[in-house]
Amino acid sequence: MNDGYYRPVCRSDELKDDSMRVFRVDSTDVLVGRRNGKLFACNNSCPHRGASLSKGEFKDDNIVCYMHGYEYNVFTGKLENMKSWKKEETWVEQNPEWRKSGDLVLYEIKEHGGTVYVRL
Ligand code: FES
Repeated sequence: MNDGYYRPVCRSDELKDDSMRVFRVDSTDVLVGRRNGKLFACNNSCPHRGASLSKGEFKDDNIVCYMHGYEYNVFTGKLENMKSWKKEETWVEQNPEWRKSGDLVLYEIKEHGGTVYVRL
């Protein structure tokens, strides 16, 4: 959906640096955050298997999905890396397959007059 309108999601002071929060905008869960002083907004659903990215953590400009460790740059949306993860007793290493996961869906975000707005 792209109706061109910016929607207010929260006050600027509710979004501290190096934090993120999920907001429901229309019927979409949008992950909004501030990393190293810069705002970002993306779909909260991990492009790999749909886990909630809000349960992940930051690593540099990336968000690391808690489920399988895929790392996406929150500003470019690019899938950057995948850490090795354990399935039952086996460590699953990177292989070319992980590159087939899509990139993050990013949304436009801006701050004006002490309010943060996103546009889907
Ligand atoms: S669901 Fe996020 S890395 Fe697999």
